[in-house]
Amino acid sequence: MTTRILTGITTSGTPHLGNYAGAIHPAIVASRQSGADSFYFLADYHALIKCDDPLRIQRSRLEIAATWLACGLDSQRVTFYRQSDIPEIPELAWLLTCVAGKGLLNRAHAYKAAVDRNVAAGEDPDAGVTMGLYSYPVLMAADILLFNAHQVPVGRDQIQHVEMARDIGQRFNHLFGHGREFFVQPQALIEEGVATLPGLDGRKMSKSYDNTIPLFGSAQQLKSAIAQIVTDSRLPGEAKDVQGSHLFTLYQSFATPAQSAELRDQLLQGLAWGEAKQRLFELLNDELGEAREQYHALINKPDELEDILQAGALKARKIATPFLGELREAVGLRSFRADQQVAASGKKKAAKSARFVSFREADGSFRFRLLGADGEELLLSERFADGKTAGQISKQLQSSAALDIRVQDDAFTLWLAAEEVAQSPLFADTQARDAAIARLRAALAV
Ligand code: TRP
Repeated sequence: MTTRILTGITTSGTPHLGNYAGAIHPAIVASRQSGADSFYFLADYHALIKCDDPLRIQRSRLEIAATWLACGLDSQRVTFYRQSDIPEIPELAWLLTCVAGKGLLNRAHAYKAAVDRNVAAGEDPDAGVTMGLYSYPVLMAADILLFNAHQVPVGRDQIQHVEMARDIGQRFNHLFGHGREFFVQPQALIEEGVATLPGLDGRKMSKSYDNTIPLFGSAQQLKSAIAQIVTDSRLPGEAKDVQGSHLFTLYQSFATPAQSAELRDQLLQGLAWGEAKQRLFELLNDELGEAREQYHALINKPDELEDILQAGALKARKIATPFLGELREAVGLRSFRADQQVAASGKKKAAKSARFVSFREADGSFRFRLLGADGEELLLSERFADGKTAGQISKQLQSSAALDIRVQDDAFTLWLAAEEVAQSPLFADTQARDAAIARLRAALAV
């Protein structure tokens, strides 16, 4: 089975070189691996939590979309969309809000940090805390669970959020799944090998330290940013401390091993810092030049970007819409018309008859349920290796003259050719069980 990889990029700000090396580039490389089914999206609902400037929100969405595409993300191969184009995400967020424990969210790092700051300042603990900030992890859980992502590449600060998504998903499964796992358990994926770039001052490159190198500024802007990299005061001709130089670290992050070895030798032999900066400029300008052109071309064609993202949303909603339909059914938000109840496939079924609903488990196996005309679950099948077997078994059940039903306490199982193929839910007592058996016989006889 393919591995579904999903990650969101909060659209507040302009991508810099640190984002490129730490997130964008590795994600694009990963998306090209065979067996990866990648979902990348602009987390623009999340951006609203931190930013109330509409122009900045809009600008950042445009810049980040253009950046990913310019860096080589293939929107045909992956699913690339804006969170705010998928109405199923906030809808699922509400379903999850209704099962997420408040106590769980009280423990979220970002919320706790805000409370600690308030308390330290002698303020009300929740001063300035919006429900958006508080519920941030639930929205993120909806992002992840709606697409049943197996792996979620994130920074360390987001691990807790992925764990919360597991918790919340499990709770939903437990409450509404009746043995079915609606949601798989997502795993945070921390890329150990990925570079954390030093910024101009040697601290981690970060917008909050104001020490970044712009990713797609002009060549001149790149040059002047590099000119600001802090170095020690060793003069031309003096051997440089290569290990302690973040200029060298930056160079090494983009150079081949041979190029790095060459620059190291030259620095040890006294190459001037100014000269080393020129080398770094040339290296980065080469690495980014082509993407930069692409980027500016895209930024100037916002209509084209819009089309790409709309196509991505369509692709994502092909999965999201039917799945959310099942989740709505599971919690009891069903049509009053029996003939309009949505089956797992999203298709309408004939009126007033029982129906088989097949689905696939997270482990790749195939199963089906038999639902009564009113949506009551009558049977849940065993796991089958392929869809064909599952289909054949459900057909056989419909055509068998005498059903092999075996009762066991308050439940029963169904057998075909000496093999157990399905089981009932657990009933309140044997009377309820026998009534269900009668309904099952009636349903299969139709
Ligand atoms: N919270 C993430 C961040 O700040 C962005 C994000 C939103 C995300 N939804 C997600 C990441 C779902 C992974 C999966 O980095």
